[in-house]
Amino acid sequence: MQALDTSVKIAVIGAGAMGSGIAQVAAQAGHNVYLQDQQAGAAEKGKTSIAKILQRRVDSCKMQQADLDALLSRIHPIDNVEELADAGLVIEAIIENLEIKRQLLANLENICGDDVILATNTSSISVTSLAAQLQRPERLLGMHFFNPAPLMALVEIILGLATDKKLAEAVHATAAAWGKNPVFATSTPGFIVNRVARPFYAESLRLMQEQAADPATLDAVLREAGSFRMGPFELMDLIGHDVNYAVTESVFSAYYGDFRFQPALIQKALVEAGRLGRKSGHGFYSYAEGAVRPEPATEVAQSATEQPVMIEGELGAASGLVERFKQAGLTVVERAGAGVIRFGEATLALTDGRMASERIVADGLQNLVLFDLAKDYQKATRLAIAASEQASAAAVKDATALLQKAGLAVSLIKDAPGLVLMRTIAMLANEAADAVLQGVASSTDVDLAMCAGVNYPQGPLSWSDNLGQGVIWQVLTNLQASYGEDRYRPSLLLRRNAFSGQDFFA
Ligand code: NAI
Repeated sequence: MQALDTSVKIAVIGAGAMGSGIAQVAAQAGHNVYLQDQQAGAAEKGKTSIAKILQRRVDSCKMQQADLDALLSRIHPIDNVEELADAGLVIEAIIENLEIKRQLLANLENICGDDVILATNTSSISVTSLAAQLQRPERLLGMHFFNPAPLMALVEIILGLATDKKLAEAVHATAAAWGKNPVFATSTPGFIVNRVARPFYAESLRLMQEQAADPATLDAVLREAGSFRMGPFELMDLIGHDVNYAVTESVFSAYYGDFRFQPALIQKALVEAGRLGRKSGHGFYSYAEGAVRPEPATEVAQSATEQPVMIEGELGAASGLVERFKQAGLTVVERAGAGVIRFGEATLALTDGRMASERIVADGLQNLVLFDLAKDYQKATRLAIAASEQASAAAVKDATALLQKAGLAVSLIKDAPGLVLMRTIAMLANEAADAVLQGVASSTDVDLAMCAGVNYPQGPLSWSDNLGQGVIWQVLTNLQASYGEDRYRPSLLLRRNAFSGQDFFA
């Protein structure tokens, strides 16, 4: 499908944070853009803020003054919506309120031509319900940009029940022509990103609530072992707890109280206390003048005894560790076994979603110390471990010494099922799989959305493929058994794939 020609005029309604950014994107792509806001002077102010941001690019020689002038000449602030009658695509980015958005869209149908495309930037309102009272509901779709719109590559193109697919394809192509990474999603609560990303916060909040580790440690593990740009607590502090908590609550209630999305009381308490994060000077961390960020819990250096590392059987997703041991100059002996590492008194194994204390009994292993998943065991700088209650102190020391010898900082957490990164990835992949199962989006679009929209180092579904057949399903099955909670039920699609040998990507 063809993108809209740059001769098509674009209108953006609402000149706030999102509207101004979207207007900039469309103008940068060569369109003439009307920018309208109900507040007098707001559209002009929006244009001024675009000019200010881009002037910095000119000042640092990243943009030519002539290009900036041309771009700004294409942005037309207007006070009256009637003035945008000849726009071919109208994107509304006004206040998040169903009735006010409905009124505006009905008004636009009367002002614009029959062939206008109407788009909403809503992040939480159903496109289907916004379209319901329109004369031409097939001409409304969601165009969900991320903040800041000029920088974030993702645009979710949302199809309501009545949306014309051809039109959605044209808008998809247009977003691509604007330099964005568009994905299709059906209008369901949270669309893709705001739904699939919930466990990124929820699992760490749960671990903190259960005293498994503190925010600084959990953040460090997700950054250093998981390659996420920010840990969940620092990210929630940045987003603002009022906003993040409201999204979780809205998705939780929109899915009829599905416990997968259950909000966390510790976050509610922050909102109640007015500790909204960076913007209020205090969230999980303090942002007061001179405040020092707490250090992650890191085990003190242990000396490794001069003995070989025994690799017994296949380590599966953790096989990268073997190379790392060799590179660190350790003597590695590989022999048959059940996929464990033995070093000194310790038996180490990759978490499978059971607690070490349980696994020691079920699998008849002594002195078991579980270690967490890493995105890349060769590059990780930190790894979380958890020891069984039954393990000796010497075994924990030996396990720590081995990983330290391989150059890893070690964070010892409580014996929590699935540790930190493994359970986070398992729950992200679970949600992603359900979104695919329920036809919300394709596997490709779900993964692309999570990388382009929230900068994940890898899409959860291809990550799941990389871990190996059935690994995530097994972890979730064990998590569900550990907690006895519906929250951890594995997606039917993960179960089906585990038995059929299917991957998400060939
Ligand atoms: P904002 O509060 O910064 O801007 C909203 C603007 O709309 C204000 O300037 C206001 O005067 C104007 N406005 C309100 N009612 C209007 C009407 N009837 N006609 C014309 N102008 C009107 O809000 P923000 O953050 O830009 O959000 C706008 C929309 O984008 C909302 O639907 C929000 O859910 C969505 N969104 C927000 C994101 C964010 O991170 N802030 C991300 C993605 C979507």
